[in-house]
Amino acid sequence: MVKRIGVLTSGGDCPGLNNVVKQITSEAINRGFIVEGLTEGWGGPIFAATDEARVRDVTCTLGEKEVRRIDRQGGTILMSSRLNPFDYCGEDVSDRVVNFLNDRYYGTITIGGEDTNGISGRLVQKGARIVGVPKTIDNDLCGTDVTLGFDSAKHIVSRALESLRSTAGSHGLTYFVEIMGRRAGHLAYAAADATNAHFLTIPEVEIDMDKLFELLAERKKSLKRKRGYTMDGRRYAIVAVAEGTRIKGIGEIIHGEKDQHGNVYLGGIAAYLSMAYTKETDFESKPLVLGHLQRAGPPSPNDRILGKLFGKKAVDLVAQDFFGRMVSVDGRYIRDIPLEVVIGRMRVLDAQRCYDAENFQPTLRDALYAYVEVPK
Ligand code: F6P
Repeated sequence: MVKRIGVLTSGGDCPGLNNVVKQITSEAINRGFIVEGLTEGWGGPIFAATDEARVRDVTCTLGEKEVRRIDRQGGTILMSSRLNPFDYCGEDVSDRVVNFLNDRYYGTITIGGEDTNGISGRLVQKGARIVGVPKTIDNDLCGTDVTLGFDSAKHIVSRALESLRSTAGSHGLTYFVEIMGRRAGHLAYAAADATNAHFLTIPEVEIDMDKLFELLAERKKSLKRKRGYTMDGRRYAIVAVAEGTRIKGIGEIIHGEKDQHGNVYLGGIAAYLSMAYTKETDFESKPLVLGHLQRAGPPSPNDRILGKLFGKKAVDLVAQDFFGRMVSVDGRYIRDIPLEVVIGRMRVLDAQRCYDAENFQPTLRDALYAYVEVPK
């Protein structure tokens, strides 16, 4: 009997997902498998497992024809969601999902971040035959040096910070640019460092807002003095603000309710800082939320290559019956780790090593990154 592999993409989308789906499909077909996509993240398995009549609606055949051109497309042709089989409208349907997946597929490949792969790890503990692939622009997944999508987002955010200089400069504006990443500052850090943003705030270190404003105001005044800048002392500044930044005495700025994984929707920190800064100093400033543009569009060359490696490795693991593993990057090599490693844990910046909290600056100069793993 021909063996079937199921594939799903779950959580926030990112550039490069489709390329992984393509590589999985080609590699699996070459080895005699057939491949089926499950739509809407964990939604596909949940709907199919809880209502047999919906199986056809939430599955699609993936063949050479379907995936030929998708490698260059952003988003995910399989669609995504933040649904959670352990908490689907208040009900735990995880056992039914395990049965559905194991009955229908030889193995299932789940492409996702810490929530998705955390769920995969828990389903594996219940007997599911799953292999995980790490993706998220946040780069906050344990057990891998890098996740798919991070490089593309780093390019997008860096380009935005860089471009902003001309307009900020023309108007002498201070821009507070809100950058995604939840409770990890990897994306904000990398883009701010790459583009020499004037100031950076990260979620890992609570900020003293008054100190930041003092430095910003000081920068304006000192440039005016040093350069004999006579007009009105106008001078711009770019402040890269991670969305999860916590302000001393206030905490993080929350935009909305928790999702089904218990993550609060962060958002609004740039607007908060901008308003407070202008009120405090009278200097004009603007918030800029890069929002979903940070994960939109086609993948970077690095993410394209990573997608190829990830797709092949995932199929290797399924073909070797090596389930309960997550594909990972270890230095130059593609390896695999137990999926359980990611359950309830995440990776954040090692701020002690890489961040000067007094001057709001990145400082890492002897390594490519400095991470620590923490409970979620
Ligand atoms: O986890 C990826 C991410 O893009 C985070 O950086 C961000 O906080 C969150 O998703 C946004 O959630 P949503 O896509 O539901 O708006």
